[in-house]
Amino acid sequence: MKKILLLVCFPVLLHAQGGMWLPMHLEKQNEKEMKAMGLKLSADDLYSPSQPSLKDAICQFSGGCTGEIISPKGLLLTNHHCGFDAIQSHSTLEHNYVEDGFWAKNQSEELPCPGETAMFVSRMEDITALALQNVTEMMGDRDRQSQIDKNLAQIRANTKKEKWEEILIRPFYNGNQYFLFVTVTYTDLRLVGAPPSSIGKFGADTDNWVWPRHTGDFSIFRVYAGKDNKPANYSPDNQPLQPSHFRPISIDGMEPGDFTMVYGFPGRTDEYLPAIAVQQTGEVLDPLKVSIRERALKIMDGFMRKDPEIKIAYIARYANIANSWKKWLGEMQGLKTYKALDKKKTLEAEFTRRVNENSAWKFKYGNLLPRLEQNYKEFEPYAAARDNFQEVFSRNVQLMGLVGNMNNWIKSYEESGLAALNGKMSVYREQLDAFYKDFRPAVDQAVFAALSELFAQQMRPEWGGDVVKKEAANRGGYDKLADYLYQNSLVASKEKWEALMTRDPKDIGDALKNDPALLLWRSVFAPYQEQVSPKLRELQSTINLLQREYMAAQLDVFREKRFFPDANSTLRLTYGKVAGFSPRDAVQYEYQSDLDGVMEKYIPGDYEFNVPGKLVDLWKAKDYGQYATSDGRLPVCFLGTNHTTGGNSGSPALDAKGNLVGLNFDRVWEGTMSDLNYDPAICRNIMVDMRYVLFVIDKYAGASNLIAEMKLVKGKKKRKK
Ligand code: ARG
Ligand code: ASP
Repeated sequence: MKKILLLVCFPVLLHAQGGMWLPMHLEKQNEKEMKAMGLKLSADDLYSPSQPSLKDAICQFSGGCTGEIISPKGLLLTNHHCGFDAIQSHSTLEHNYVEDGFWAKNQSEELPCPGETAMFVSRMEDITALALQNVTEMMGDRDRQSQIDKNLAQIRANTKKEKWEEILIRPFYNGNQYFLFVTVTYTDLRLVGAPPSSIGKFGADTDNWVWPRHTGDFSIFRVYAGKDNKPANYSPDNQPLQPSHFRPISIDGMEPGDFTMVYGFPGRTDEYLPAIAVQQTGEVLDPLKVSIRERALKIMDGFMRKDPEIKIAYIARYANIANSWKKWLGEMQGLKTYKALDKKKTLEAEFTRRVNENSAWKFKYGNLLPRLEQNYKEFEPYAAARDNFQEVFSRNVQLMGLVGNMNNWIKSYEESGLAALNGKMSVYREQLDAFYKDFRPAVDQAVFAALSELFAQQMRPEWGGDVVKKEAANRGGYDKLADYLYQNSLVASKEKWEALMTRDPKDIGDALKNDPALLLWRSVFAPYQEQVSPKLRELQSTINLLQREYMAAQLDVFREKRFFPDANSTLRLTYGKVAGFSPRDAVQYEYQSDLDGVMEKYIPGDYEFNVPGKLVDLWKAKDYGQYATSDGRLPVCFLGTNHTTGGNSGSPALDAKGNLVGLNFDRVWEGTMSDLNYDPAICRNIMVDMRYVLFVIDKYAGASNLIAEMKLVKGKKKRKK
């Protein structure tokens, strides 16, 4: 009897899972379900605007990741790939922290990391009513937005905050609701520890987005504050932050079925789009971007494998470009395999059926789907042109990205003379110095030659495709065009730029405005700006408006459902269970990987699958200390049903009592589609087991000073029989 009940209940429960919930609504929306699934805390323990709560240990790390505080002295844990820019920027062939790792033995050895930030949320408020005051349904998009902007300015002015706090306002449910966040941002962060890439990036791009995984994807920073414990710019006199809250770490480990939650800052999802939009992403835009990046990556990879100096310079850039490339590939495949379009179409049929049965709805919502369909169709070629332009003339060719950025500056010199140049000269010098640090002209030139040819093929002739084709023909081919540009552009190497900077400002301005790289960029940008941008903006604004109405309609028509707001880089909690999965017939994935698996993948000296000698020794000796399982293994990564996305990297995975048990860092290949089509049967998040993190810090790196700062809990968990 009990068994039957379980079988009946389980799919229902699974179905209810997914979602990235607002901390302030947990009590109303989720607490009951979370407790039924095993949570031992109250909603108030997780989020409270007035008393210290778990959320006070969670921060957005440097705008795009999540981090958590794990010691009373401000130690911050995040992923290796989140700290990678910082690790890379301190690395040279002599001090190769990317390759060898880095461990500060005491606070004086910690490395300052300008640009890295930690943003905490003090409290949040639902400000929908005030934000939408005097907004009417009859208003056009522009009028509506300007009324909202006025309201928001008022709200900002009236919100009480301390002087070290900031106010952040974000639309939710495509602009149907608004929330305000009072935040505190620390800017003095220092690098404390990072494993070598052969641990922190083990498996690199081959294993990225894939299960089974064996990566120790973590790095450690420390947050510093002024003498008053408030945010302060970097100063040697700053003190480690004394946090109001930090997370204890459990080394008991997790088993399938255990409750887990992930608390962090998911960046962006689009779960409520119409079928046509999902189709466009999966069948047109993803494949387009994938084709461009594939070429760029292959070229960079060739250079990096041959030259260790180039490898250091390009490794972070390569990882970023490769990460989205591979995600889009997985997304394309997942949407197809798991029939996302059919699911959306079924939902739309039900929507239409309900709407047609209700005359008020029919009047309000009856036209939405056909209008979305028509606008998305019209939008498609423009969106493709946008991606073509951005991927080639901004994102993947460094020189084009550079002159594109300089364009406005040089334009103002042409229009208003020397003053414009002088005013920003020092800013540009600084930016260019930073740019050249990781720029190797030979690599970029080869990327340009390949991508400009692809651009000429894929971009409509009248939107810039022809310009590039003709330029190449004039120079005798794409390679020759590339040769010409990189030989003659005054910004195509550090030496030329420095030589240029010794000339007087007027010379500099005149040289720059005639620079061949800038001239090419401009001749491609001109048709884009004239013929693509305006239409793109117009259609995007119509689509935004329709999508807002369609979101409101879904909330209205499917009242029996619980809708979470799409991710928008704000603090969210997602929860689920530790679980493996079956991606297809006759294949079952285990929920956990361990160090034996690292050794199975080990290829001595390999670019992606090397293992440090010391780790091999520890494995041979089975010297895992208190981090071993009862049967003597060392767990490395594990899976859960938590609904996560980009931005959740570095988020704490917590157990039923709120102890840190894992560090979120990725999703499984079959589930990378989850931003558009979350499927609880297939989508899994990947976490590094905290036992592996601690083992690496303690046994591998010998950084017992760090372990001593943390609070470890163990032996408190009852084992299920
Ligand atoms: N896929 C993960 C995320 O989206 C990890 C990326 C880091 N690893 C890499 N090889 N690029 O960010
Ligand atoms: N790896 C991602 C991140 O960096 C997480 C994900 O997309 O699942 O945020």
